[in-house]
Amino acid sequence: MEDEFQYIAKVDEIEEGKGRPFVMGEHRIALVRHEGVLYGVDDVCPHADASLAFGPVKDGCIICPWHYAEFKLETGEAMSGPVARGIRTYEVKEVDGDIFIKLKKPEATD
Ligand code: FES
Repeated sequence: MEDEFQYIAKVDEIEEGKGRPFVMGEHRIALVRHEGVLYGVDDVCPHADASLAFGPVKDGCIICPWHYAEFKLETGEAMSGPVARGIRTYEVKEVDGDIFIKLKKPEATD
């Protein structure tokens, strides 16, 4: 099941420049729209488990609202901050007003 796309949200639930948290089984996911592109990433900061969905989005990165670690939305790579690793990213697609996500993905990048 995890290697198939699953419904997660309506397209109009995700506003430009903002994230929103979702729980899919054991996965905590942040959906984020930045410059028109939809991203799915882990909603757990590897530093101290903050929800990244509530962090600001800037220059292709989502910024942890607690201690400001920055992660590239496209790859999950950690760009700065007190973290030793990045976050996982997930394939997402928009079909007829619905958003689908594929939860299986390689491990986080450094
Ligand atoms: S919890 Fe994210 S940087 Fe500390």
